[in-house]
Amino acid sequence: MYQKEEQIALAKTTNLLLKNDKIGKADIEDLRNAIKYHEWRYYILNEPVISDFEYDTIYKKLENLEKEFPELITNDSPTQRVSGDLIENFNQVAHLTPMLSLANSYDEGDLNEFDKQVHKFAGVDETAPLQYSVEPKFDGGTIVLVYENNQFIRAATRGDGEMGEEMTLNARAMKSIPLSANFSKYGIYKAEIRGEALIRKDKFESLNQKREEEGQPVFANPRNAATGGLRMKDPAETAKREIEVFVYQLGFAEDKEGNSLLNSLKNHSDTLKILSEIGFKVPVEGQKVCKNIGEVVSFCAEWQEKRDKYAYELDGMVVKLDSLQLQEECGYTNHHPRWAIAYKFKAKQATTKLLNVEYQVGKIGTITPVAKLEPVSLAGVVVSSVSLHNEDFINSKDIRIGDTVLVERAGDVIPYIVKPIEAIRDGSEKVIIYPKYCPMNTKEQITLVRAEGEAAWRCPNCTCGAQDLQRMIFHVSKDAMDIDGFGKSNVERFFQLGLISTLPDIYNLDYEKIATLEGFGKKSVENLKAGIEKAKKSPINRVLYSLSIHHLGQKVSKLLAEQISHVLDLRNWEIEDYTKIRDIGPVVAQNTYQFFKDDKNIAMLQQLEANGVNLTQTPEDKPTVIAEDAPLFGKTILFTGTLNLMGRKEAEAMAAAVGAKNISVVSSNLNILVVGENAGSKLEKAQKLGKVQIMTEAEFLEIINS
Ligand code: IVH
Repeated sequence: MYQKEEQIALAKTTNLLLKNDKIGKADIEDLRNAIKYHEWRYYILNEPVISDFEYDTIYKKLENLEKEFPELITNDSPTQRVSGDLIENFNQVAHLTPMLSLANSYDEGDLNEFDKQVHKFAGVDETAPLQYSVEPKFDGGTIVLVYENNQFIRAATRGDGEMGEEMTLNARAMKSIPLSANFSKYGIYKAEIRGEALIRKDKFESLNQKREEEGQPVFANPRNAATGGLRMKDPAETAKREIEVFVYQLGFAEDKEGNSLLNSLKNHSDTLKILSEIGFKVPVEGQKVCKNIGEVVSFCAEWQEKRDKYAYELDGMVVKLDSLQLQEECGYTNHHPRWAIAYKFKAKQATTKLLNVEYQVGKIGTITPVAKLEPVSLAGVVVSSVSLHNEDFINSKDIRIGDTVLVERAGDVIPYIVKPIEAIRDGSEKVIIYPKYCPMNTKEQITLVRAEGEAAWRCPNCTCGAQDLQRMIFHVSKDAMDIDGFGKSNVERFFQLGLISTLPDIYNLDYEKIATLEGFGKKSVENLKAGIEKAKKSPINRVLYSLSIHHLGQKVSKLLAEQISHVLDLRNWEIEDYTKIRDIGPVVAQNTYQFFKDDKNIAMLQQLEANGVNLTQTPEDKPTVIAEDAPLFGKTILFTGTLNLMGRKEAEAMAAAVGAKNISVVSSNLNILVVGENAGSKLEKAQKLGKVQIMTEAEFLEIINS
């Protein structure tokens, strides 16, 4: 980090500049320093201390001065990042020291073996613990930077390790690469620094979204977007990708006389501190000095679990012997240093065989194809079936039974098939023929239908009970009637035993019979009964939602519940009565209208009521009128990060109850951002906007309770 005094001095300069309009030639150096300081706060630390507008103001002042006095422009001026030159070709350049690969490890045993080998090569007694620096293994593109006399002079890709492709102009366009840095403070005249060019996962999402809107092909992953960005012909295009560079190794350091300085720097972790101090972005989160290999093992295991929470894609951790002198003792193979090893996270992709396709029916009759796979382990989870979504998905990927398929599990995302491996087909694979008739019904042939504009085939006339079962499962679920002690497996079991076949049966259970079932003690029957009795008193917005009306969500269920005194009032509603309510679209209106015009449904509702389910509007269903003096009346609010003091839905409800409106994006319309743990891009954006009030969970609770 920059010295404290320097920070204060620079911040002072900034203040001065922001106030003073009369800036002259003599201020140009101060201006440049101030801008560099704020770029460092923004791009390296992610902690800007001025708004974008203020930054733009001083940037423009510098640009204007440089226009007036071009002789004062320096090569490392913040205005000199994108020159407008196009890169003709990528020349081959030799690295100052060869950049080798890393050996891989996959488990605790491998790491212990590595530690043993390091002891041997370093000549250290096995009983003496060795200190390691562990860092994220970034999944981006390697970038090698050269500085001479404190100036950035060259950047290259890794290439074959000996020679890389020069990409200096593109690197200059990346704002986390300092154009000058105070190496001389450490006596370093010439340095080579290795790092990784990356795109934040959330920035990658918006980049792809933008490309999609512009009709350009999207990138498969952040790595492709970053490595492609290094090789653009126009540096201005590189700048647009918002690539960030983390540096992780000082590969070469010499003084003016050509003496290597690497030995005088004690530990690898010290070199990271120095690089950070002189303005580079180094891994902070995910970096740790471990006292022994045991600590390394736990730290790697911890990050294996947390990898999805990291803002950038990681494919493992890198374990480096911390002592630079002992690194030297260990030396290198032709392929990798003996003092470092990559600990690779469990694969998120794997290939396996697609054995068969089965079909599932949903609560409104949608037939979903599901691929049955030869079980395969993906990032620690065994996967044996994945959804194929619909007919279009299967056809667009040309997935066949018997294919070897590539399966991926990204983050918390449900596993999915990336593609079939067509090259290894042997001709025995079978094209998937989508069923014409409902595959659930073994007794009758019911032709499936596909509505215009929809991808799904549906069974329009279920006579086999399969859809009733799905509706019951949904009805008891948390967001619907939330019946305690009545999960999916109980619904399925009672259905199979003939104890329930449609929704009203849930409220007319034969408890005596249930008490005789295996696994049901007196206590669990009592709990079930209590859950059902409680559910009978639910507000009618939950009842409406629990009916599985196509497209009728929780929000519209609430709007409808505000308008009626009894659920069956909807029998008399016409389509226009629905559509005149704001937020109710024509599709929901049509579906709900049709549902309440169907005698079967009316009879079902009457039976529900006869079985004790409340269908009359409750105070909870009535619109809440909020007083103008409520603590957050008229304010917009957004919660971000992991909340520890309350659930997200609970927090939003509390905010709404005191007059706030919950919104989902950070924009100039946002008044309050409540930040939990690990708040990411939303916090960053709000800070940039400047006007957003940022508060902690505790502060929020204090305000709403005031
Ligand atoms: S150290 C001599 N540290 O992994 C070893 N490499 O196989 C120098 N990588 O493509 C590499 N994160 O770009 C090191 N924290 C990290 C890394 C890292 C990602 C990449 C590197 C190279 C590959 C090494």
